[in-house]
Amino acid sequence: MSLEVVILAAGQGTRMKSGLPKVLHAVAGRPMLQHVVDSAQALSPLACHVVVGHGGDKVREQLEQPGVQWVEQTEQLGTGHAVLQALPDLADDSIVLVLYGDVPLITSATLQTMVAAASKGPALLTAMMADSGGYGRVVRDDTGAFVAVVEDKDASPEQKLIKEINSGVLAAPAAQLREWLPAVGNNNSQGEYYLPDILSLAVSQGITVATCQATSELEILGVNDRVQLNQVEREYQQRQAQALMLSGVTLADAGRIDVRGTLSCGSDVFIDANAVFIGDVSLGSNVQIGANCVLINTSVDDGSEILPFSHLEQASVGKHCAVGPYARLRPAAVLAEGAKIGNFVEVKKSTIGKGSKVNHLTYIGDCEMGVGVNVGAGTITCNYDGANKYVTTIGDGAFVGSNSTLVAPLTIAENGFVGAGSAITREVGSDQLAVSRAKQRNIDGWKRPSKD
Ligand code: UD1
Ligand code: CA
Repeated sequence: MSLEVVILAAGQGTRMKSGLPKVLHAVAGRPMLQHVVDSAQALSPLACHVVVGHGGDKVREQLEQPGVQWVEQTEQLGTGHAVLQALPDLADDSIVLVLYGDVPLITSATLQTMVAAASKGPALLTAMMADSGGYGRVVRDDTGAFVAVVEDKDASPEQKLIKEINSGVLAAPAAQLREWLPAVGNNNSQGEYYLPDILSLAVSQGITVATCQATSELEILGVNDRVQLNQVEREYQQRQAQALMLSGVTLADAGRIDVRGTLSCGSDVFIDANAVFIGDVSLGSNVQIGANCVLINTSVDDGSEILPFSHLEQASVGKHCAVGPYARLRPAAVLAEGAKIGNFVEVKKSTIGKGSKVNHLTYIGDCEMGVGVNVGAGTITCNYDGANKYVTTIGDGAFVGSNSTLVAPLTIAENGFVGAGSAITREVGSDQLAVSRAKQRNIDGWKRPSKD
């Protein structure tokens, strides 16, 4: 039987106290709604119908993708009303799985169980909550059979003691939803059309409601405020940290790593505390990442070490390189094998050849550097004249003395040598020494100024 997914995401999320629609708040760098869509897509449904209302345009803009269809709920009259808006778009013979856009940790495995349980009639995902306050409670009869979901605001004092709650995830054949949803009323304390009320209709018709239990409280944790957003974030990060460790990565502190994207690692990688990985990051074998490093869409090849407090974005680090501490590799920084980038060095759109060293306090931008080059402390490639950018080419084996400014466009040929403190504006030939600085004068018998 085919599957249709309906994701409810029309609520305002007042408690987030935010200009951003709630479902766009990020968990591990991606909108929480995206997590729900991804878990749903893993089940290959006919479509994901996302019900939007508050901030709907913004949500659409960010989540537009194949397989997602948008449903408008102009007035938020309740979860039952929200699903009703999607009904006309659902295939007749399908099973419909209803998810919430603000419950991002739900796993595909649990959803699969739910869909299987709903082949003949409705199924509800429930959970035991130590503190069930605020949730809809699951009421059962003496035999343990499902009777109804009673919302917190409608529950009697005895019902409030019930620990089993409605997670919000529900599945049912489309035909049954078409029959029951229009019959749901709004005669309750909130004047809303409650989706779980279809289950009471089922029971009244003698139809059994299947229930499945979530694997943990956390899987069905809903985000209503930023405290819960953080709980979800930490849980998600913890899951990723566990997966990394089980795949053979050593973490200095599993509670102090953040992966906002995908991190792939070779064998025997070590990651020190407070490292942040954003986008697609890949680390080869025997790579060491120092404390407080940020790596964004970057690859680091086997045996390289990124020392503490370094920031790498769209960079490519070859084998056996050393970067940092306090280094900054900007987009299109490419380091060949054995290159060394030291402290307070910034590299942008440049290739650093095999074994070349840029060890201290330097800016290298728009530069093609050969093999075995040594760049002294405080060197600046002057790549920008206020209007255009120019390239500096440095040949194999060249040596650039400290505190030099290399005014591009410029070539320093193989084995060219630049004396310290030079401002170089013309090509330096191979095996030439270029010195461009005021000549030193020594004045004899110099008397120091004295106080009047
Ligand atoms: C709902 C359930 C409750 C369950 C809890 C689990 C109902 C009536 N109650 O309560 O039993 O324990 O979730 O977290 O279903 N939404 C719309 N349109 C609407 C109303 C809501 O799209 O008109 C969306 C919201 O954006 C949200 C989801 O539905 O993603 C849940 O709505 P919310 O108001 O948070 O329901 P709860 O009161 O938490
Ligand atoms: Ca909620």
